[in-house]
Amino acid sequence: MTETLRTASASTGPALVTEVPGPKSRELHSRKTAAVPRGIGSALPIYIDHAEGPWLVDVDGNRFLDLGCGAGVNMVGHHQQSIIDAAAAQLNRVTHTLFGITPYEGYVRLAERLSEKTPGSHAKKTMFVNSGAEAVENAVKVARAYTGRRAVASLDHGFHGRTNLTLAMNHRAVPYATGFGPFAPDIHRVPNSYPFRDGLTGRQAADRTIAYLEERVGSADLAALVVEPIQGEGGFIVPAEGYLPALQEWTNRNGVVLVADEIQCGLGRTGTWFASDLFGVVPDVVLTAKQIAAGLPLAGVTGRAEIMDAAATGGLGGTFGGNPVSIAAAHAVLDLLEDEEQFAAARRIGNTLTDGLRRIAEHHPVIGDVRGHGAMIAFELTRPGTTQPLPGSAAAISEHAARRGVVLITAGSDGNVIRFLPTLDVTDDLLEYALTVIDDALNRHD
Ligand SMILES: Cc1ncc(COP(=O)(O)O)c(C=O)c1O
Repeated sequence: MTETLRTASASTGPALVTEVPGPKSRELHSRKTAAVPRGIGSALPIYIDHAEGPWLVDVDGNRFLDLGCGAGVNMVGHHQQSIIDAAAAQLNRVTHTLFGITPYEGYVRLAERLSEKTPGSHAKKTMFVNSGAEAVENAVKVARAYTGRRAVASLDHGFHGRTNLTLAMNHRAVPYATGFGPFAPDIHRVPNSYPFRDGLTGRQAADRTIAYLEERVGSADLAALVVEPIQGEGGFIVPAEGYLPALQEWTNRNGVVLVADEIQCGLGRTGTWFASDLFGVVPDVVLTAKQIAAGLPLAGVTGRAEIMDAAATGGLGGTFGGNPVSIAAAHAVLDLLEDEEQFAAARRIGNTLTDGLRRIAEHHPVIGDVRGHGAMIAFELTRPGTTQPLPGSAAAISEHAARRGVVLITAGSDGNVIRFLPTLDVTDDLLEYALTVIDDALNRHD
């Protein structure tokens, strides 16, 4: 990644003043290599100095259009003043008490707000932890406590985190799980709905998932089925219509807790509060993280009151979970999302990207599929005319884009998906610029 490319667009566009990565980034990267374990990768070794709106500015003064948003986190735009003010005010008041010892109002109010926004009008309760993986862990804890059952199922192509339990739930073992076993028992991965690859209707795919669960696990032993309504790391896989409602009907009938991991696809990302809403699904437990506090560590577990209350007092929690500063930032994020314009922006972004990518796909048959909802759009690279993945193809496009001032991140179990998780303040002009960069990358790649 050492090609030189000068200012890429008008003054409002990306602006590169050095090669990418620049000399300061390269120097930092050699220090990083010596100081930080290699297991902590850096897909694009561009060291960031500051950020604003949809922009990242690196230590060399290069300005990048950020279409990855730190894997979906800074959805409402970098450096939002209302969020900074809310967090700063809280820093000046109190930074930590440990909610399990001496609680505070912000936590309770955020629990109330999430319980109100998540799908379904039933009684709910919400708890907070530090990370998405921790939210998944806690969903499994309460589901087991509530049902008295041991088994947990997740879907093929799913991703749920990097803790020991979640490693057992992920589709991809390499690199996430390599060398880290033994893993938690009683975890089962079952087929998902992947319309582009399996060609099944939602009903057919659900029948396949359910048959697998009934034969290989047994509903009597199954505590929870954990699904991402739109799979994130797996490549923005949107299930066929009717798939999730059919799963919900089965879990309800069999007393299995349906957990929607909305850590990547929730909280406005798809142009609705929750992706479950797009499919008319009311999960028993909903998980939130990434976007919730604009980068401050926080994740939520919201579920039916009786499920959430199944754990004994003191059985849930942790030192930092629901930190007051993160909670204050989350209130400011939710205040922004209350404005319908944010969801409209997500839908506009989805339309611009989908139309643009379909246009590009007409003359680049390596684009096998364009899919997603709202500001969560991806394209999958395949051997032309087939569903066979082009392994590793996405990384080459992402590196090319970075050299043109656009941060684009990859996904897909085969490393053949480019995903867009932009900030909601990105303009159509900037998206069109990014599309020309992708077109150019594909011209070199085809
Ligand atoms: C759907 C989903 N679940 C869980 C996680 C894990 O979250 P964290 O990295 O905060 O532990 C992620 C992270 O990418 C995710 O996308």
